[in-house]
Amino acid sequence: MHDTEEPQESHNKIPKGWMLFFVGGIIFLVGYIVSYTPAISGWSFYQIFEKEMADAAKTKPQTSVTHYSGNKEAIADGNTIFASNCAPCHKADATGGIGPNLTGTLKYGSTQAALHESISTGRPNGMPPFLQQLGSDRIDKVISFLETLRKK
Ligand code: HEC
Repeated sequence: MHDTEEPQESHNKIPKGWMLFFVGGIIFLVGYIVSYTPAISGWSFYQIFEKEMADAAKTKPQTSVTHYSGNKEAIADGNTIFASNCAPCHKADATGGIGPNLTGTLKYGSTQAALHESISTGRPNGMPPFLQQLGSDRIDKVISFLETLRKK
C-alpha cells in the first residue's frame, strides 16, 4: 500500500517539451525587450517614422506641373486633350466661348496650382471637374499647353 501522505507528484520530471517552451519563452522575452528598448538597441519608432516619411516624400506624385513646362511632347498631348475635352466650351485656342477666355487674366488665378485646382475640382459657374476623367497627370499636360497660349 502506498503512503498517501507522500507527495507523489514531486517524483515526476517536468516534461522536456514544457521546459523547452518555458526557457524559450524567457529567452524570447528578454531578446524582445532588449531589441525594442531604445536605450539598449537604439531602436526607435521615431527613426522608422522619419525614414518612412522621407521615402514617401521622394515618391510623392507631383501636383504642380513644373516638370512639364516647355516639354514639347507634354504640350502636344495637352493640346490633344484640350481639343477633345475643353475646346467645346473654351474654344480650341482657349480664347473662350461658353467658358471664359483662358489666355487672359483669370478669375481664380493663373499659377500652376490655381489652374490645377480649377480643372481638377471645377468652378461654381459652370466649369465641370475633370480629375476623375483625366487624372492629375493629363491635367498637368493641359496646363503645360495652356502656358504656351498664355506666354504669347
Ligand atoms: C461645359 C463647359 C466647359 C468645359 C467642357 C470646360 N470648361 Fe473650363 N470653364 C467653364 C466655365 C463656364 C468656367 C467659368 C467658371 C466660373 O467662373 O466659376 C470655366 C472656368 C475654367 C477655368 C478658370 C478660369 C478663371 O477665370 O479662373 C479654367 C482654368 C478652365 N475652365 C479650364 C478648363 C480646361 C483645361 C478644360 C478641359 C479639361 C475645361 N475648362 C473644360 C466651362 C467649361
